[in-house]
Amino acid sequence: MDIRSTTLRITNESTYTIQLVHNELEKVSEYFLEPIVSERALVIVDEQVHLYHRDWIESSLAKTFRYLSSYIVPSGEKSKNLSQFGSLLHWILEQPIERNTPVIVIGGGVVGDLGGFVAASTLRGLPLFHIPTTLLAMVDSSIGGKTGINHSTGKNVIGSFYQPVGVFADTHFLSTLDKKEWTNGLSEILKYACIQDQGIFTSLKALFDHNLDYEPSKWVDVIHRSAQIKTEIVAEDALEKGRREYLNFGHTFGHAIENIADYGTFSHGEVVFAGMYAAILASNEFLNAQLDPNIILQYAPRYDFSLASLRSVIPDLIQQMRRDKKVQQSHIRLVLLQSIEAPFAYTVQEEDRLTDIWKQTIDMFS
Ligand SMILES: NC(=O)c1ccc[n+]([C@@H]2O[C@H](COP(=O)([O-])OP(=O)(O)OC[C@H]3O[C@@H](n4cnc5c(N)ncnc54)[C@H](O)[C@@H]3O)[C@@H](O)[C@H]2O)c1
Repeated sequence: MDIRSTTLRITNESTYTIQLVHNELEKVSEYFLEPIVSERALVIVDEQVHLYHRDWIESSLAKTFRYLSSYIVPSGEKSKNLSQFGSLLHWILEQPIERNTPVIVIGGGVVGDLGGFVAASTLRGLPLFHIPTTLLAMVDSSIGGKTGINHSTGKNVIGSFYQPVGVFADTHFLSTLDKKEWTNGLSEILKYACIQDQGIFTSLKALFDHNLDYEPSKWVDVIHRSAQIKTEIVAEDALEKGRREYLNFGHTFGHAIENIADYGTFSHGEVVFAGMYAAILASNEFLNAQLDPNIILQYAPRYDFSLASLRSVIPDLIQQMRRDKKVQQSHIRLVLLQSIEAPFAYTVQEEDRLTDIWKQTIDMFS
């Protein structure tokens, strides 16, 4: 299969290429050889990925690097913390590194955000490469340069923008991914379909109609299109001052659920999915958009969660939306749709109307 390649040009800063292949990790050497002249590479790898794909990764990277040093990061969001960050810094600084020693981060968004921040922080920045291994990381977190860790005061509150030298995604990694992790990525893909390309809905339908739901090689086109959309939006707005805001479609509602519910009750994909439904209702309410909620609801059978426990905390959810980073001059700001493919950032003046949107959303997913 041909390598799909998309170039991300960050104005005046850097340009990098995102490569997408299926079962051709050995090509990573060819790809990495060009910009890097180093005998050694530092590999930061997710525990599960290491478990399933260790030999494949090592033999592929050994074609380029004589010495590989690996650090295995325990799976899960809990690893995105100061203590893991500190351990990684100590580990890197004890290696015989030079300024051009590449850091290759292999895993989902957790390892990508953590490892990216470590690369950004060591010797004022080591060359960073992402090898994303979850659907979400392939279409979202490995692209755009956001790195960071969590703190007791909030998620992703310590971090920086640090662009990688390259991103190399091999869909074969998805063959070992849990079904639940597929839906996390699906939510972001549905977001791209809503804000920029409804053709993605057609591609997804073709996959699902043919029972190719978990067939990695068949997802290459959908992943490529999604990564392209994220790339285009980020390239226009690398530091999140304008259009990048559209990537928050569904997320302001979703973050409110994530913050109010007990930690771990819902996955990110679930709350974003429910959040997109709420954002569609809000688009109809505030913008008179006349959207059919079925564009999102038709995918509901793929998700398995209940929002029933949130019925009594709607005021808290709205309060939480006010605390969202996207609040402007104390008003809640939502990314809505004027129509499909036409996102619009809306400042909410009539917050009481959100109560009914929350009620309808909770009823729908109870
Ligand atoms: N930087 C950004 O722009 C950005 C964007 C979106 C999300 N994020 C961050 O991404 C994180 C979520 O990322 P995620 O959904 O990839 O979660 P994750 O990194 O926790 O991976 C999910 C699970 O899948 C396992 N895994 C990873 N690859 C696998 C594979 N190929 N086979 C089997 N198991 C595998 C992991 O061990 C983990 O248990 C969050 O911390 C979020 O804040 C960052």
